[in-house]
Amino acid sequence: MKLNSLVQWFLKQRASLPWRPEDPHAKRDPYAVWISEVMLQQTQVETVKKHYIAWLKDFPTVYDLAQADEENVLLHWQGLGYYSRAKNLHKAAKILIEKYNGDFPKNRSEIEALPGIGKYTAGAILSMARHESEPILDGNLIRIFSRLHLWNFLPTSKPEQDIYWDEARTWSQGKNAYIINEALMEMGRTLCKPQNPLCPNCPLQQECKATSENCSSQYPPRKKSIQETWHGVIVIIESADGKIFSVQEEDTPFLKGQRGLPLFEFSKAHGKGFPGKAERWITPESIEEYHWCGAIKHAITKYKIECQVLYIRSKDKSKKSSHWVARANIKQAFANSLNLKALHKALED
Ligand code: ADE
Repeated sequence: MKLNSLVQWFLKQRASLPWRPEDPHAKRDPYAVWISEVMLQQTQVETVKKHYIAWLKDFPTVYDLAQADEENVLLHWQGLGYYSRAKNLHKAAKILIEKYNGDFPKNRSEIEALPGIGKYTAGAILSMARHESEPILDGNLIRIFSRLHLWNFLPTSKPEQDIYWDEARTWSQGKNAYIINEALMEMGRTLCKPQNPLCPNCPLQQECKATSENCSSQYPPRKKSIQETWHGVIVIIESADGKIFSVQEEDTPFLKGQRGLPLFEFSKAHGKGFPGKAERWITPESIEEYHWCGAIKHAITKYKIECQVLYIRSKDKSKKSSHWVARANIKQAFANSLNLKALHKALED
């Protein structure tokens, strides 16, 4: 009964989105499901739409993605956060070509063994593209299940994860898991929202304990946020011909894989001298002038970032390489808020 009302609701309300075929019962291209579902993880539907369209235009198949330059792949990811996801898509595309003839393997464990693919993405591919009776569990479903049953716990450790996945399995065991899974996500996104849930419009209101007790917005319990402070130095190196140096970031826990301004952790109080760690990018003989510009603050996921900004002018002209960015292009090339704040501090304050 509850499945019926959910399906009816979804077929009536289903938003038109670029990754959804018009026919809700059509089998989908597994590649397109994969890309859209990875993009949708922790990113708003509105933001994903334009990125998804551009991606499918430039990399319409897994072959096109596997053959693309990494730099180009990362460029298409700008604005979607977590560049490791784009790198994993690229790596997995190559494996799909080399090992599986360009298609996803048959069973769940082989799909989950691909870089960047977890239980959620594997379930989405198997249900939405292959129409298999496979479960998914994302933040939307967690919220719905917690409210339906008044579960006052999150799936943080194994026993609780098992409870949530068992519930997801019961919802997806029929032949129409491809509709149920997506309908639950859509419901979570549009009705069973974290704040101000629209319980009177919900197709599951009859069976929802939180609705009957009028306490939906108190479920699920909030995640305890463990904030970490990260102290560092962000370095702006300008060449004699007015270009800014960029690197592929590997050393911080929050910007992994992104191209941006060089930065390094520097937890101790430091003087105004030249930090040796910056010699990774410029030798002391090449320095025309340097100065400290002050501090910036920023937050990314659980990290509270406090960075000193160091500006260095080089005596040398830029070498011809993708590391050097013309001043006119810095807003596109350093398109994350931390970098933009540092550039603003050094160049415009
Ligand atoms: N959130 C993530 N994937 C989704 C989908 N396929 N439909 C609705 N919301 C989603």
